Amino acid sequence: MLTGKISVITGANRGIGRAIALYFAKHNAKIVVNYRGSKEKADELIELIHSQGGEAIAIKADVTNEDEIKNLVKETIEHFGRIDVLVNNAGITKDNLLMRMSGKDFDDVINVNLKGSFYCLKYISNIMIKQKAGKIINLSSVIGITGNAGQANYAASKAGIIGLTKSAAKELASRGITVNAIAPGFIMTDMTDKLPEKLKEETISHIPLKRFGTADEIANAVGFLASDMANYITGQVIQVDGGMVI
Ligand SMILES: NC(=O)c1ccc[n+]([C@@H]2O[C@H](COP(=O)([O-])OP(=O)(O)OC[C@H]3O[C@@H](n4cnc5c(N)ncnc54)[C@H](OP(=O)(O)O)[C@@H]3O)[C@@H](O)[C@H]2O)c1
Repeated sequence: MLTGKISVITGANRGIGRAIALYFAKHNAKIVVNYRGSKEKADELIELIHSQGGEAIAIKADVTNEDEIKNLVKETIEHFGRIDVLVNNAGITKDNLLMRMSGKDFDDVINVNLKGSFYCLKYISNIMIKQKAGKIINLSSVIGITGNAGQANYAASKAGIIGLTKSAAKELASRGITVNAIAPGFIMTDMTDKLPEKLKEETISHIPLKRFGTADEIANAVGFLASDMANYITGQVIQVDGGMVI
């Protein structure tokens, strides 16, 4: 399904990004594990992929740094020669009520989640245009659709991802490139682990499937959009949320 596809996954050393990297490796893609912080975690993931017979390299880059993204693309091309799939997964939260949210916390979230995705999309689609093929999958969130008290910066960034996805889909379709977004609901990772138990219990009561999702369930949807089975799908936002937002 993904055999031989050179796939760049941002923020892949833990959480949903890690699950996507393992899913892609299992389906014989060749992976670029982008990480910002822990080299040890990235190396551990590369070793795991190699031990399962897969192929992967780790490249350090902060998605908010344009030069580091240019370098990530350069190193990927030097190593693999092409890029077939980009998964814009790197993301952060800095939650607060509007009254208490600083300009810096607003900018930080927009810079990582939205501008970081823009930089990767810009420089990697440039490679895909020359190849006349490529698949880009952006991680949005149901919060980008519904909004959420205490998450104005995050909601704005994830709504922005939807606009970015639809615009890029229109701009790049004629070059053989599809661009789609996944909007996860509540997925069990470090990002959600830090939320208060009471909030988690209340959230679960509003999910028709009555449980949180797993990172593997997001990876399944990303894998589908990256595969040839999704060749005629572009500009779409697919919710993977247990029915949380219907
Ligand atoms: N979990 C959910 O319920 C949920 C729901 C909807 C959408 N999402 C979205 O899914 C994506 C993954 O979320 P997650 O739950 O797996 O989060 P997570 O466990 O907090 O992991 C976030 C990943 O992003 C990386 N990252 C953060 N800032 C970065 C930067 N500037 N440059 C490069 N990498 C950076 C982190 O690297 P470090 O290890 O270096 O910090 C980490 O690998 C995010 O875009 C998130 O918004 C998650």
